[in-house]
Amino acid sequence: MRFRAAFRVCESRNRAQLLLQPQASRSFSQLPINSQRPSFGIAFDIDGVVLRGRVPIGGSPQALRRLYGDSGALKVPFLFLTNGGGVPETRRATELSELLGVHILPSQVVQGHSPFKTLLKRFENELIIATGKGEPAVVMSEYGFKKVLSLDEYASYFENIDPVSQYKLWTTKQESGNGSDPKKLVPKYNATSDRVKAAFVVSDPVDWGRDIQVLCDILRSGGLPGHKNTQQPPLYFAADDLEYQAAFPFERLGMGAFRIALESVFNRIHCNALEYVSFGKPNPFVFKNAEAILRQLQSSCNDNAIDNGDVGSNPFKTIYMIGDNPLVDIKGARQAGHPWFSILTRTGVFRGKDNHAEFPADLVVDTVEEAVDYILTEESTS
Ligand code: G3P
Ligand code: MG
Repeated sequence: MRFRAAFRVCESRNRAQLLLQPQASRSFSQLPINSQRPSFGIAFDIDGVVLRGRVPIGGSPQALRRLYGDSGALKVPFLFLTNGGGVPETRRATELSELLGVHILPSQVVQGHSPFKTLLKRFENELIIATGKGEPAVVMSEYGFKKVLSLDEYASYFENIDPVSQYKLWTTKQESGNGSDPKKLVPKYNATSDRVKAAFVVSDPVDWGRDIQVLCDILRSGGLPGHKNTQQPPLYFAADDLEYQAAFPFERLGMGAFRIALESVFNRIHCNALEYVSFGKPNPFVFKNAEAILRQLQSSCNDNAIDNGDVGSNPFKTIYMIGDNPLVDIKGARQAGHPWFSILTRTGVFRGKDNHAEFPADLVVDTVEEAVDYILTEESTS
């Protein structure tokens, strides 16, 4: 039996008290195998918990392996709940599988922009603009939006829209939302005369200056740069993280910082204040959606489980959110309430000795491996 020091909640599932005391944990093979479907699930944040950039951290590969049986079948329903993104969920699942050494299904990947799918009905056949790192237009196109242009491509139709573009020595590869040959696959329309009906910030913007300029052009002209129209088209952000943990040792400015920059400029040059909607954690919708996905995953867990055909028959007693950002991951799990239980790691944005003052987690640990240790021990004895 191993002993590991962790801040452990004294009264189980009780937010009231955190005490530092040694917590016994056993290796997974020693834990009793439940013949029923597990009544708990886990949501893993990615940046600052499982990865830093593309490097696994906190013992994440070992920790995740413990959630699979010897046959490689998923034993504990879990998913990744990240505010990051920029590539379709299918691609992210493949990348994560390679980096972490376990087989991740696309349904186990919920990114900041995943909820954009819910807007399909409204904008399916309308011209929309998508911006951010990676392939934002491909992401939106895979969700079913038919007339998507990346902001890169959209800007290219307007000569001199970016007055400093000639000083930018990098080149941008223009991606199309509809495949590799934009001429063949993008529906015929004229970007300079067709109104943009909505703008989506899919992932962290790369060229902030150009994006702020072009978004202001779109948003203060009713969707047609250069025209007079004060009706602002809807603007959606995949997340609102002020900072996040990337490969650099200190936090980096995130999409929330970009939103503040855009909003500050827009509100100075336009008569009406910027209107926008932000998705991603800590939005309660994200946690509800994660719970629904975990329930579906739960039904495929544990080969020995008795299948009575009713996916909802075994409601979760606990869903663990393991995150590094108190303002995003912990706040979201706390707001979501039962059955969510928050675990804060010290591998990312949060590095405090004790708990976070404003958004205290139910449990604080050093790494994701410790978090999984705690969960498996707790669940094998409860
Ligand atoms: O851009 C990524 C970031 O804002 C947060 O990602 O995985 O920590 O939710 P994550
Ligand atoms: Mg994080």
